[in-house]
Amino acid sequence: MSWMTGWIHFLDLTMHLILVHLFTSWLDSHPQFVSNPLYIGGDSYSGLTLPVVVQEIANGKEAGHEPIVNLKGYLLGNPGTDYKIDTNAVVPYLHGMGIISDELYESSKKNCDNDYYSNVGHSLCSKDLEKINELLSEIDEAAILEPKCPFAAPRPMEVGDHRRALEVNSSRFILPQPQPTFGCREYSYLLCYYYANNDSVRKALHIRKARTFYLY
Ligand SMILES: *[C@@H]1O[C@H](CO)[C@@H](O)[C@H](O)[C@H]1NC(C)=O
Ligand SMILES: *[C@@H]1O[C@H](CO)[C@@H](O)[C@H](O)[C@H]1NC(C)=O
Repeated sequence: MSWMTGWIHFLDLTMHLILVHLFTSWLDSHPQFVSNPLYIGGDSYSGLTLPVVVQEIANGKEAGHEPIVNLKGYLLGNPGTDYKIDTNAVVPYLHGMGIISDELYESSKKNCDNDYYSNVGHSLCSKDLEKINELLSEIDEAAILEPKCPFAAPRPMEVGDHRRALEVNSSRFILPQPQPTFGCREYSYLLCYYYANNDSVRKALHIRKARTFYLY
């Protein structure tokens, strides 16, 4: 683990505590919701953070900390779970979906010794991964049956160290990159961008201008 990854994990850990604190503070000021059945949901990167938040809330409940919430469960969609497991799942999946050939799959399996996470530095392995990434770049990674559209969310595309705050000139900002067109899944991100940045919307929602530190 690099120091950077370690730092990000440290930030995540701090985030858990902040989220739990925000949640319980909110319930303190909205006690009418305390007895409601509580399900906590998240997707993508929150697969790494949410279980810890839920565990923290469950522990608090067991220890009898107020407010006693009616925690029923949690759900994760398309979650990140573990860098190594997630990374190693990509190549077999691409092969299973017919995106890479049997030959390339067998070759990469052999050259990377079935571990695409730890062996990327080996030259034969990285050569195969380069070919795989080239093929991967032709499809929409999030929805492989949909057309490949420009990515329009001002956030990173992948789980990993490529945090927005760490990229001097992220290629993944919404503007002035090519924009997704109507019919692309990403089109709704574009609409959200205009909606959320519109001054009258901000005024109506009482959003205050502030300097923001982006975690990801
Ligand atoms: C960042 O991107 C802008 C617009 O494409 C470009 O003009 C600028 O030189 C880039 N800056 C760096 C540090 O790459
Ligand atoms: C913001 O929204 C209002 C109300 O829909 C609209 O009239 C205005 O043109 C929008 N502003 C910008 C800059 O798009």
